[in-house]
Amino acid sequence: MVTPPPARDVTATRLLRSSPPHTYDPDVEIDWDAPLAPDRYFVPPHRCSLYGTPLWESLTEAQRITLTRHEVASVASLGIWFETILMQLLLRDYYRQDPTRSHAQYALTEVADECRHSVMFGRMLSKLGCPAYRVGMLDDLLGRWLAATAAGPRMFAAILIAEEVLDALQRESAADESLQPLIRMVSRIHVIEEARHVRYAREELARQVRTAGRSRLAYDRMIIARAAYLTGTRMVAPEVYRSVGISPEVGRRAARTNPHHLATLRWAGQRVVSYLDELGLIGGPGVALWRRSGLI
Ligand SMILES: [Fe+2]
Ligand SMILES: [Fe+2]
Repeated sequence: MVTPPPARDVTATRLLRSSPPHTYDPDVEIDWDAPLAPDRYFVPPHRCSLYGTPLWESLTEAQRITLTRHEVASVASLGIWFETILMQLLLRDYYRQDPTRSHAQYALTEVADECRHSVMFGRMLSKLGCPAYRVGMLDDLLGRWLAATAAGPRMFAAILIAEEVLDALQRESAADESLQPLIRMVSRIHVIEEARHVRYAREELARQVRTAGRSRLAYDRMIIARAAYLTGTRMVAPEVYRSVGISPEVGRRAARTNPHHLATLRWAGQRVVSYLDELGLIGGPGVALWRRSGLI
């Protein structure tokens, strides 16, 4: 009797087959020389972190557009940061694997996808004339530590949080015809290619939770909660408010209590939150961090 291939190889084979027709070269697909439209928003205004606040009311239309330009740059910067960690994790995992197996080959395919994404986001930042917004010192350290050590459920859950939250925002932007064409195109490419990453991470995570046994996951739950906290609180770097003459601390405080912004975070997080909850990965002392993340 022939032994069937392990489940992860079955998934990987399917994704390897479906990847090529859904793979895009941003160099070819995006007209990088086209000028930005002066009167178009970069994220839908109701997704701006200050939307509806007195600070928002005090801004001119041009300033509101500027703020959304910096907020989309901040999200892309966090995307690059997460992708750079993910590429290291996947490569570290690949190093130990048999290169003839689908699972190993899919890992490299995902690295190739993320390579193109980070170049695309970096290019977008220069086109927008925005800086790369960096995470704080503590998160920088945590990121380097995670990149060097993370494995198992915490690795895939952290990745999934970043990928699914970004996915919700970009899906909406890709479909919104009133937005900057550049943002719509970048979002579209990313959404299409990330769909397979999300599928892969979800299946792999469920398998790993089954192997680990739910009760042994206390430490992972803490790390996952910290990743959620980072995603919720750093998606909009406080420094973006300087672009419209608002001090980072004043802007950050207004966003943290803005019901529109909190609703956006919950909306963007709802799919991944319910999936992680189903797997028993939200709980214990980490719940406090989840709450502060705004995602639940
Ligand atoms: Fe990506
Ligand atoms: Fe991804």
